[in-house]
Amino acid sequence: MTDTDIKKGLAGVVVDYTAVSKVNPETNSLLYRGYPVQELAANCSFEQVAYLLWYGELPTDAELAEFERVERGQRALGDNVKAVIDLIPTTAHPMDVIRTAVSAIGASDPDADLATVASSLNKAARLYAQLPAIVAYDQRRRRGEDLVPPRKDLGYSENFLWMTFEEVPDQVVVDAFTVSMILYAEHSFNASTFTARVITSTLSDLYSAVVGGIGALKGPLHGGANEAVMHAFDEIGTADRAEAWLDDALANKRKIMGFGHRVYKNGDSRVPTMKAALDTLAEHYNRPDMLELYETLEQAMGSRKNIKPNLDYPSGPAYNLMGFDTLTFTPLFVASRIVGWTAHIMEQAASNALIRPLSAYNGPDERHLPG
Ligand code: ACO
Repeated sequence: MTDTDIKKGLAGVVVDYTAVSKVNPETNSLLYRGYPVQELAANCSFEQVAYLLWYGELPTDAELAEFERVERGQRALGDNVKAVIDLIPTTAHPMDVIRTAVSAIGASDPDADLATVASSLNKAARLYAQLPAIVAYDQRRRRGEDLVPPRKDLGYSENFLWMTFEEVPDQVVVDAFTVSMILYAEHSFNASTFTARVITSTLSDLYSAVVGGIGALKGPLHGGANEAVMHAFDEIGTADRAEAWLDDALANKRKIMGFGHRVYKNGDSRVPTMKAALDTLAEHYNRPDMLELYETLEQAMGSRKNIKPNLDYPSGPAYNLMGFDTLTFTPLFVASRIVGWTAHIMEQAASNALIRPLSAYNGPDERHLPG
């Protein structure tokens, strides 16, 4: 075994097939079940995309109506889950709250260990329907506000925003939110999805796999980057300070959150679509200063390191403009990625092999206790 045999970070390693999505860095494209994600973001609801990722095809009108009926019927936060959330201090990171709430849902499901396709689809649909209530309620309780019950007359995005802010914002805001949910939904074998697949490969249950995925997503090298982008924006303040801030950060060997990607080396395929949504929001809220800071930092990072933004770069400021607390950004990613995770969990279960790589030992040679 030599150093070149070691695939640190599994970089460049292809571990399995997937039919859920295709990331192609050469053409800078991302396909969900064959459809370019930009086309889906421009033309579909999040409900349609969730259906597509789970069932492999876009729903007919009748299938969509039934899918929406089931989702709308399961949106309310269960009393037991609310009670569990209320036990957690509001000083906890929201990702810890979401992780615990999903665990509580799993612990109260008598069929938690049932792994039939129908049962897995039901669990996936329940988590997809309930995560907005969990995320919205957690932001509200931090602000000292009461839970807002869901409304069955509203679509997924409108209802999510309603439960968070107790009002449905203008259509441009709803549309930008939907775009973000669609773009975040799926991205092949990223760290959190792979974590969920590893857990599934041991024949553990779907909830455990999702809880593991949430843990992996929390880290700032993955989903946690969208909130880290906003912390950086807050630190920088205004566009005229961006270059000096960046030079200082790079001199101190800091990673600039929202930039770089393991797979895309020439720009993240999702960024132009999310940046267009951010542009619309900045105009709607009359915040050209936000765009100025965004673009100045992007250009400075390009000229100094030639590293391009990833999806978290435009989505962080977009969520800020929509009114979400910075700590809620990564939970929003969870609410969307639950769809991709569960599609992969079902795919892994359908064609399972225990995921168990090897390691090269570099500790002490064999030795023995004295005497
Ligand atoms: N800021 C500064 N330097 C960077 C950045 C960055 N954001 N990204 C890469 N680099 C540099 C590294 O320092 C390294 O330089 P070196 O060769 O001189 O040491 C080189 O580029 C290669 O970077 P690696 O970290 O080795 O590349 P890897 O493929 O492992 O990293 C990653 C990808 C983790 C996403 C990285 O770009 C990063 O840390 N980015 C910031 C975190 C982030 O935005 N994560 C979100 C990912 S996308 C998503 O989850 C939606």
